[in-house]
Amino acid sequence: MKTTPDNSGDVRLSGISKTYGSFTAVHPLDLTVPEGSFFALLGASGCGKTTTLRMIAGLEEPTTGTVRLGDQDVTHLPPYKRPVNTVFQSYALFPHLDIFENVAFGLRRRGIKSVKKQVEEMLELVQLGEQARKKPHQLSGGQQQRVAVARALINHPKVLLLDEPLGALDLKLRRQMQLELKRIQTEVGITFVHVTHDQEEAMTMADTVAVMNGGRVEQLGSPADLYENPQSTFVANFLGTSNLIEAEVDTKNGDDLVLKAGGGKLVLPEARCSAPTTAGGKVLVGIRPEKISLTHADDAGEIPAGRNRLTGKIADASFIGVSTQYVIDSPVCDELAVYVQNVERDGRLVPGADVVLHWNPAHTFGLDAAQDIDAGTEEEVAA
Ligand SMILES: Nc1ncnc2c1ncn2[C@@H]1O[C@H](COP(=O)(O)OP(=O)(O)O)[C@@H](O)[C@H]1O
Ligand SMILES: [Mg+2]
Repeated sequence: MKTTPDNSGDVRLSGISKTYGSFTAVHPLDLTVPEGSFFALLGASGCGKTTTLRMIAGLEEPTTGTVRLGDQDVTHLPPYKRPVNTVFQSYALFPHLDIFENVAFGLRRRGIKSVKKQVEEMLELVQLGEQARKKPHQLSGGQQQRVAVARALINHPKVLLLDEPLGALDLKLRRQMQLELKRIQTEVGITFVHVTHDQEEAMTMADTVAVMNGGRVEQLGSPADLYENPQSTFVANFLGTSNLIEAEVDTKNGDDLVLKAGGGKLVLPEARCSAPTTAGGKVLVGIRPEKISLTHADDAGEIPAGRNRLTGKIADASFIGVSTQYVIDSPVCDELAVYVQNVERDGRLVPGADVVLHWNPAHTFGLDAAQDIDAGTEEEVAA
């Protein structure tokens, strides 16, 4: 059912916002989701994801702004007149109808008589061809959710909206369904807008992720781009783990900034710094845990020149199979996280050991120190 792109599946939001009384759930938002892409809205509970999705679906009237699908302004169209379907967490299949009839529902409602071929195609797509004559309660949660996807896709929407569709599934099934949904999207080639609070889910599935925080899009990009180049402490902490070290701009050296952190120096490519870079300016130096290498202090002389380095003491080590996760206290920063791939394990790297942490300066990023250093951490988000 792959269609030729004509941009009619683009979702274009211009200045859309939503206020409830004096509370702003979504601040004016501009966003274009290109036709055929898998787009994720990612953020903690309450940040405005569902509200944004409901405005696209027509289930919620925007306070300001417009919603366009391709070139068509649909802002004032009722939901059923929009070429959009939504899949929710509670899949709400019709319990008394079998799987075939659940999927056929949208066609029958439109008065279409010969539904067999289309329904069978849809059931093949979601790999439930064998289950056609079962009732919903005879299927697993993941299978039921696939029925819900088939039931939505049979209407040939331009855009499929998914609001935490995997939220009710256990972790293992959720991982399987992520790959499954991604495969279905690639096969049908229509635009998917997927809402989730699970950063791993967004990263696994989406071509582009919009990270939302407090009713605003904080950063938008490919999963790798967001991970490697976070522009705020919220994004740095919400997507994976970041070490953030307080530092101060000392000098510039070509394309690099040289920063003072504690008694030592750290190098940061200026292009990777989103903070003001004038001398004396405060910067949070960011480095991901897996980019850091650990060397026992006795071997510090073997560390190649040109690497950023910090001294520290191992506070904790957790062996988790593929890697060991260390917590290291350094004079410049407590509780640095370091993940070391489990290739050749150095038996000396145990709690209490003195170590040197070192990394390629090119992997360093710099953030404005005027932000909350803990924004987006698990503790903050849960609070
Ligand atoms: N109908 C409503 N009336 C008042 N406040 C609402 C309504 N719907 C949502 N909100 C508030 O708007 C904010 C965003 O909600 P929502 O979009 O559901 O967040 P998310 O899906 O990211 O968890 C929340 O603080 C929520 O309580
Ligand atoms: Mg929601």
